[in-house]
Amino acid sequence: MKIHIKSPGRVNLIGEHTDYNGGYVFPCALDLTIDLLFEKKSKESYVNTDLGYSMSFDINTAYKKSNNHWENYVLGTVNELKQIKSKLSNFSCIIKSTLPSGAGISSSSALVCGLIKGLSIINNIDLDNSEIINLSRNVEHKYIGVLGGIMDQFTILNAKKNMGIFLDCENLKTKYINLNLGEYKLLLIDTNVKHNLASTEYNKRVSECKQSLKIINRVCNSIYSNLSQVKEIDLSLSKNKLGQTLYKRASYIFNENQRVMKSANFLENNKLKEFGQLMFESHLGLKNDYQVSCKELDFLVEKAKENDGILGARMMGGGFGGCTINLIKESSINKFIEGIKEEYFSKFALALKPIIANPDIGIQMKII
Ligand code: GLA
Repeated sequence: MKIHIKSPGRVNLIGEHTDYNGGYVFPCALDLTIDLLFEKKSKESYVNTDLGYSMSFDINTAYKKSNNHWENYVLGTVNELKQIKSKLSNFSCIIKSTLPSGAGISSSSALVCGLIKGLSIINNIDLDNSEIINLSRNVEHKYIGVLGGIMDQFTILNAKKNMGIFLDCENLKTKYINLNLGEYKLLLIDTNVKHNLASTEYNKRVSECKQSLKIINRVCNSIYSNLSQVKEIDLSLSKNKLGQTLYKRASYIFNENQRVMKSANFLENNKLKEFGQLMFESHLGLKNDYQVSCKELDFLVEKAKENDGILGARMMGGGFGGCTINLIKESSINKFIEGIKEEYFSKFALALKPIIANPDIGIQMKII
């Protein structure tokens, strides 16, 4: 018996850095996947990938962290599953991927969710989606060192074809919204700037948000449990005590949550133009207030603004590299890319990479 898992990447229409603040996000899964083929083995376990990485180990030996970064996805998953069932079966796993890594389209979560799904089936461990989300988050927090939220895992596990998920990350209430984009497409442009969320500022933003929440609760004598609950009036009352930087972070979260709510409404009513405008505003907030953009992302968004075929564009994901997401007329795609790629290369000595994102179904499993 072999188990084939197809684990997709995720795109986020709008709602960035709000997930770990208990706020709104609006993602969908994409039609690029990591494919994992599992089989039970009696002796050693091994994992092979089409990127040239491979590893072998005995599953019932205790392993700590590896110096080889990608091995920690596997070891972390194995160790987290051992907390549920102490003796696991050895296995082989062949990994093939059409999902670019380091592009802010969630290849890490796609890999970890795929590993958890496959290994739980091999070992008869019954896990529901919320348990998979928690395990996956533990792997990324403890073994990869990124204190990310739950948007990526939730999307990978729950996405539906052609639907966006309007998700409240505080209580996981969801509303699926049909993405009727008509003649428009979601175009991702990979900057090819390889971000490293752990070593950049991602974790710092997480702690700045916690710090802001503490200050607001102290100033307003309130008991908000996350930054997304904070009322506008309390935000202004706390402005002085927060200081310039934390005030910027907290007001970005307030504004981005408002934008996600409006976007869900606009997209439900096919108001693509209005939604596009919010994408541009979201980018400005990420650039100026949350400060997680970079010059390559800003360049691509500026170019998008000048193009009549594009209704909206912004950086997507954790930031400091990765992709922009553009809402663009299908007939304008080639001309837009051709028109900017040389300038992009001459400015940054990097090749940009366009990816058309078709909203697709979440993780799939087949027993062969
Ligand atoms: C990364 C994290 C997510 C989310 C985004 C930013 O993708 O894994 O949890 O915080 O960044 O919106």
